[in-house]
Amino acid sequence: MHPMLNTAVKAARRAGNLIHRSADKIDHLTITKKSHADFVSEVDKTAEQIIIETLLEAYPDHAILAEESGVHGESEFVWIIDPLDGTTNFLHGLPQYSVSIALQHKGIITQAVVYDPTKNELYTATRGRGAFLNDKRLRVTKRLHLVDSLIGTGFPYTRFEHMDAYLAIFKDLMQKTAGLRRPGSAALDLAWTAAGRYDGFFETGLKPWDIAAGTLLVTEAGGMVSDLSGNDAYLKSGHLCAGNPNIHSLLLQLMKPHLTAGLKGK
Ligand code: IPD
Ligand code: CA
Ligand code: CA
Repeated sequence: MHPMLNTAVKAARRAGNLIHRSADKIDHLTITKKSHADFVSEVDKTAEQIIIETLLEAYPDHAILAEESGVHGESEFVWIIDPLDGTTNFLHGLPQYSVSIALQHKGIITQAVVYDPTKNELYTATRGRGAFLNDKRLRVTKRLHLVDSLIGTGFPYTRFEHMDAYLAIFKDLMQKTAGLRRPGSAALDLAWTAAGRYDGFFETGLKPWDIAAGTLLVTEAGGMVSDLSGNDAYLKSGHLCAGNPNIHSLLLQLMKPHLTAGLKGK
């Protein structure tokens, strides 16, 4: 394993263990509201500190972009961290959340870890070396048609400017796919796309820490990732479409007539 990935795995497992232990104590946690329907707990913050300490102990000169504490330092190496992706699930005792850590080098994601502490599933990828679930090599599915496909998504829940377009896409997909799912952790949604549990995934309004790691998992598993217009600017716009190459292209085709200027992500 690449030494930088190894360090990220160590950080993700440490944070995941804290999250897993804390899942029994959710009634006693201090929770604050960041914005409408957006909550953060002491577990998110402590997990983030554990991750940052672990990464900076090994790589003191690297920079950090973390959801709860923002930017630290400046470097061509930037660790992009979501300490707990799926906080709403976690706070309700719904066992679908993850730790997401990616390394961006000169603007390119090179290492990725998504860890599901509930299932003890560790997803990893190094650019050019494939994606893995624990020790198993991952491949996206081979399905060719939307009608046979299971598609993951995330509903808008804090900002609603793309709501109408999202619902139009949702309505169309509901009638043309084998099913839609909204489990509630975008990092795991992408990991599941890499693992072939979904054939495709789309969501709007995501943040870099939700998707930086998951997108490398998908591409290293042979899948495609883009914004909703098929371009590369998804880390910036947060509008994302992923899937096996056939389903990714069919999803883009289906979405095209519904896209507003804002969703085209220019
Ligand atoms: C959220 C989850 C969710 C997605 C949201 C994210 P958080 O992250 O990934 O699945 O729909 O857009 O904000 O807030 O739980 O870290
Ligand atoms: Ca997140
Ligand atoms: Ca989070």
